[in-house]
Amino acid sequence: MAAARRGLIMLLLLAVVAASAAEEAAAAFKTVYAFGDSFTDTGNTHSTTGPYSFGYVSSPPYGATFFHRSTNRYSDGRLVVDFLTEALSLPAFLPPYLSAAAANNATNGVNFAVAGATAIEHDFFANNNLSFDITPQSIMSELAWFEAHLRRNPAAAEDIGDALFWVGEIGANDYAYSFMAAATIRPKQIRTMAVDRVTTFVEALLKKGAKYMVVQGLPLTGCLPLAMTLARPEDRDNISCAASVNAQSRAHNRRLLAGLRRLRQKHPAAVIAYADYYAAHLAVMRSPATYGFTEPFKTCCGTGGGAYNFEIFSTCGSPEVTTACAQPAKYVNWDGVHMTEAMYKVVAGMFFQDASYCRPPFSAVLARKKKDQQSE
Ligand SMILES: *[C@@H]1O[C@H](CO)[C@@H](O)[C@H](O)[C@H]1NC(C)=O
Ligand SMILES: *[C@@H]1O[C@H](CO)[C@@H](O)[C@H](O)[C@H]1NC(C)=O
Ligand SMILES: *[C@@H]1O[C@H](CO)[C@@H](O)[C@H](O)[C@H]1NC(C)=O
Repeated sequence: MAAARRGLIMLLLLAVVAASAAEEAAAAFKTVYAFGDSFTDTGNTHSTTGPYSFGYVSSPPYGATFFHRSTNRYSDGRLVVDFLTEALSLPAFLPPYLSAAAANNATNGVNFAVAGATAIEHDFFANNNLSFDITPQSIMSELAWFEAHLRRNPAAAEDIGDALFWVGEIGANDYAYSFMAAATIRPKQIRTMAVDRVTTFVEALLKKGAKYMVVQGLPLTGCLPLAMTLARPEDRDNISCAASVNAQSRAHNRRLLAGLRRLRQKHPAAVIAYADYYAAHLAVMRSPATYGFTEPFKTCCGTGGGAYNFEIFSTCGSPEVTTACAQPAKYVNWDGVHMTEAMYKVVAGMFFQDASYCRPPFSAVLARKKKDQQSE
């Protein structure tokens, strides 16, 4: 009896906490600017013919779960950045920069992320003969797009200090491109350059007046079916993923975090949170069932069966793969590289609600914004 009562009180308390968290989120930011690659792109890409023939994003079954049509998002539904705009109660998802919607109405922000984007500038890959038809954009071209946006929208330029800057994961393509080309460039050089570009980018935003930022690290790129298919079968870690690839992401994130620490010291008026994609992804891979997943490794929209249900020349949306698995919500991975909406939702929840996956916590970013607003 007492236990039941305690349980009820606990539930009520949780409800109060959840309601106030939602209210706090709703009041905090009215404008979001997002950057990154295909994990964050809400439609800037359009059938870019990437090196892994991921050129079918405009075809079904992309978008099947939520939008019921392709929106050129690389998933069956919403991405982490979509759950962000929902958490902030913005009236709409962020329009992709290249869309008419962004040109006509960017009231609540713009998404500059584009699939295939690298951290390092495209010329570097081209000059090293790594340029097989890859997306020409990098994080620096996204910065140029943002600058063009500000020139067209003087009001947005004035309110830059009120916006939330969401820097999605970026850099995974840099490692992938050099790997695919059997490059002579050492991963360490890619890492040094890639992290340098990301921190330069973040600092450029800070210098323009950005005050609230969330920067994501790399996920467990070694757990993506693509990486596991390409890696040697003996190259495995304690969660059965490609050990060398995960080690690369780990090293990248460590260096990125050090860079962000330096930026925090240099720009104390800004709050720069680190969203630990790697830790979030690791928690799911260690214990998929806890998060509702029964298939941590199999591609939902793929073919070939086996451990990964992934074939590099017959990917999701190609004429050979026009249907997805029956229950995408049970799968972590959507198309061999990108996640399902269900996984993005789990990751978003971890970033927004769980202090161990975002440092400082997302709630602290919101609280800081509120406090700054009140003292204005
Ligand atoms: C711009 O978009 C927002 C959100 O979708 C909407 O509330 C607002 O009315 C739009 N403004 C104009 C001028 O269309
Ligand atoms: C790239 O290829 C061109 C033409 O094959 C060659 O001349 C050049 O030396 C190569 N560059 C590098 C960095 O390997
Ligand atoms: C297990 O593997 C993951 C992914 O490679 C790594 O991050 C983690 O440190 C490993 N844990 C141990 C105890 O070795």
